[in-house]
Order: sequence, then structure tokens, then C-alpha cells
Amino acid sequence: MANTILVGAQWGDEGKGKIIDVLTEDADIVVRYAGGNNAGHTVFIGKQKYVLHLVPSGILRKSKLCVIGNGVVVDPVGLVEEIQGLRKLGVKVGDNLVVSETAHVVFPYHRELDAQREVLKGKNKIGTTKRGIGPAYGDKAARVGLRMGDLINPERLGDKLAVRIRENNGVLRALGAKPLSFKKVFAEYKAAGKYLKPFVTNTVVLLHEAMRRGNDLLFEGAQGTFLDIDHGTYPFVTSSNTTAGGACTGSGVPPHRMDRVVGVMKAYTTRVGEGPLPTENAEISDLLHGMGREFGATTGRARRCGWFDSVATRHATMVNGIDDLAVTNLDGLDTVEAIQVCVAYRHGKRQYDFVPNDAQVLAECEPVYVEFEGWRKPTHKAKSWKQLPPRARTYLKAIAELSNARLFIASVGPARAQTIFV
Ligand code: GDP
Ligand code: IMO
Ligand code: MG
Repeated sequence: MANTILVGAQWGDEGKGKIIDVLTEDADIVVRYAGGNNAGHTVFIGKQKYVLHLVPSGILRKSKLCVIGNGVVVDPVGLVEEIQGLRKLGVKVGDNLVVSETAHVVFPYHRELDAQREVLKGKNKIGTTKRGIGPAYGDKAARVGLRMGDLINPERLGDKLAVRIRENNGVLRALGAKPLSFKKVFAEYKAAGKYLKPFVTNTVVLLHEAMRRGNDLLFEGAQGTFLDIDHGTYPFVTSSNTTAGGACTGSGVPPHRMDRVVGVMKAYTTRVGEGPLPTENAEISDLLHGMGREFGATTGRARRCGWFDSVATRHATMVNGIDDLAVTNLDGLDTVEAIQVCVAYRHGKRQYDFVPNDAQVLAECEPVYVEFEGWRKPTHKAKSWKQLPPRARTYLKAIAELSNARLFIASVGPARAQTIFV
């Protein structure tokens, strides 16, 4: 029996969806514990592409239970659309999905405020997904949020929503934005609540009962370590605890029941949105974008790309307690002649072997690189460790060692079969 937490070890989009889909084969339940529909997790099954935003990626495997935990913020209209979209593609979504009654609800005023705050910030904007994530978590912390349990009770929803709309319309007017119609939002959310009611339950009790039966849980992290509200490059972060600790608070499963932490990282680095990215590099950006890769799964924005940053991933191993590493997108480096790996940061006279907390300092850091000779052979058809070019193996071993964790998976393509267990 093992409960596994899977986290992104970089700035999100590491390939968590693909690895979750692979690991779900050996799990009984997949649990999302943080974030909302700012996430976009891509899974390919054959030629069919699925992009999951709120529904755990485990939904694509039959007979697995998927849980949206209390730590998630749920846009119910978005969730209804996602469920309907999956059903249209022939995916069963019914009693294999449950949603926590204490997960907070994202409302249109959260999205509107998200957008308005970005405008106010001007050149200092975060580059959010505009899904209302920050304001929704803000309301949760301020104790004025509505939860899924409120959403599915129309009378309570009406009472609470009226107060929230009154307050938020005042703010929106002050910002020069259009106020919202209570009637319209109430009707839309009442309908979504009705649709979602069968899914809403006490997921904490459900998960503990499942553990008593001996079920194995897989926790699906969203975003990445450096987007964590506490451990990321604040303020250029999301608003939840994306790191391993978030799996406990975001699900109600206590720390001593967690057996293993898997970190997912790309063989290089990407980031979407603003904020420091020490190894950002035009050459690798152009190469990957030229291949049609590294465009956001949620917003379609081009991701910023850079060399592998082992200072960051080592830091990620530290704050998450990563045991095992899944390295994805190795094939993205197949044509590169000289591959750089960042092993330290230089800032003036100081050298860092961890990620400095001050985003300004991090933005000013110069990476110290070690060069690896590229393998310059396609890897996407490799089925085993032995079939990988020797220089690719050397590279993988080196980045895992620099990241202070064990290499567990090398991924050479988006498909399930393109997964090499090391
Ligand atoms: P997530 O948010 O961490 O689930 O990652 P995304 O789905 O946003 O982005 C990862 C992208 O890389 C997706 O398009 C995946 O299909 C793709 N992907 C994952 N692993 C591999 C790999 O090993 N090789 C290639 N070529 N693509 C991969
Ligand atoms: P997955 O789960 C990559 C980024 C946004 C922005 C910052 C804050 O697919 O890895 P938010 O909308 O959360 O307030 O935006 O965080 N961001 C992500 N970047 N992958 C994600 O999710 C992200 N979710 C949020 O681009 O910089
Ligand atoms: Mg993504």
C-alpha cells in the first residue's frame, strides 16, 4: 500500500498530467488538492488529446475514483462544461467523480477582479490565467467565500451571493468596471449547483474510509513548486500551496499517511506568465516553439523556455521531500548540440546554491552553467533505458543527481507508451 504525492518541480506544465495518467494504473483514487481551472493537464490516449482543468487526470482510466479535494477552488460553470466535454469524447463521468463540499467556489466577480488587478499592476502584472484564482483564495482566507456545500443549496446560495455581489460591485464600480447582475449570476450558479449536486460529498471521510479498505491514493499536484504561494517566486505565483504539504491540507489526509513524493520536471525549464526565470534562453525558446511545442494548455500563451535549472529543482526536492523524479520532454533536446545545465546562481559577489526568496534578487541572478554534449539522435522511439543514446543517459543521471533525488521515469513523448521506467 502506498499513497503518493505527485508535484511539479518547476514552474508548472512539467507533464504532470501525462505522468499521473501513467501512475494511475497502480492507484485506486486520484485526488486534486490545490489550484483550480488555471491548471491544464494534457493526456494523450492514442491520437486523442484530453486537457483536464479541474477533473483529475485519473478520469481517463476506467474504474478509478477521482476526487476534487477541499483545497481546490472550483469554477462550477467551468466544471460542468468540462464534464460535458469529457462525456462528449466518450469518457465516463458519473460516480467515479466526487467533489468536496468544503471546496471553495469561484464566481464571476473573482474573474473580473483578477483581470482588473492585472490592469492596475501595469508592467508589474503577474500574467495570471484570469480564472479568478487569486481573488477566490483571497475570499477563502478572509472567510467570506462560498463553498460547494453552499452552491448546492439554492436558498443559502441566494442569501450569501446577494451580499457578496453587493460588496464586489462596489469594488468593481470603483475600478471603473461593469457591475454584475445578481439575478443573472444566481440563475447560472443555481443551475450549475443542481447539475453538480450528485458529485458533492464529504471527501475527507470518503478518503479515510478508502484508506481503511486499503486503497492506494495518488495526489495530483497542480501548478509547480515555484508557483507556490509560500515557496514560489512571490508575488509571481498562484494563490495555493502547490507543494507536497498542500496535499495534506487540501485533502484531509494526514502527513504520516503519505508514503512517497514524486517530482515531475522537464529536461529543460519553462514558465508561462511573468516573474523571474534565471535560465531563460532565446535559442532553446526558438527551437521548441519552432517545433510547435510549449504553448499553454489553458491560455494558449507561448511558454518562456530556458535551460535546465538544477538550483531550482534541488530546492524543489528540499521543500517537497521528493523521493523520485520523472523527467519529461527529453526528446525536446534531441537536436541540441551543446546542452547547458545551471548548477548555481551568481549575484554580484555572492553565489547561491538555493533559490533566493527575493524575486528581484532572483531576477538579477546570472546562471552558472555546466555544458553537456548533446546526443543528437531521436529518442521518441526508445522503449527502455538501454535504448536511449548513452549521452542522453548521462544527461538524465546528471540532472537527477544534481536535483538530489532518484531518477524514476524518463519520458520521451506525450503518449503512455513513451515512458521509460528506470
Ligand atoms: P502539466 O500541466 O504538468 O500536466 O503539463 P501540460 O500538459 O500543461 O504540458 C506538458 C506538455 O508536454 C503537454 O503538451 C504534454 O502532452 C507534453 N508532454 C509530456 N511529456 C512529454 C514528453 O516526454 N515528450 C513530449 N514531446 N511531450 C510531452
Ligand atoms: P498546471 O497545473 C503553468 C501561472 C500563471 C501565472 C501565475 C498566476 O497546468 O501546471 P493564476 O491564474 O494561478 O493566478 O496565475 O501562475 N500558472 C500556471 N503556469 N501551469 C499551470 O498549471 C499554471 N497555473 C497558473 O501563468 O504566471
Ligand atoms: Mg499545464
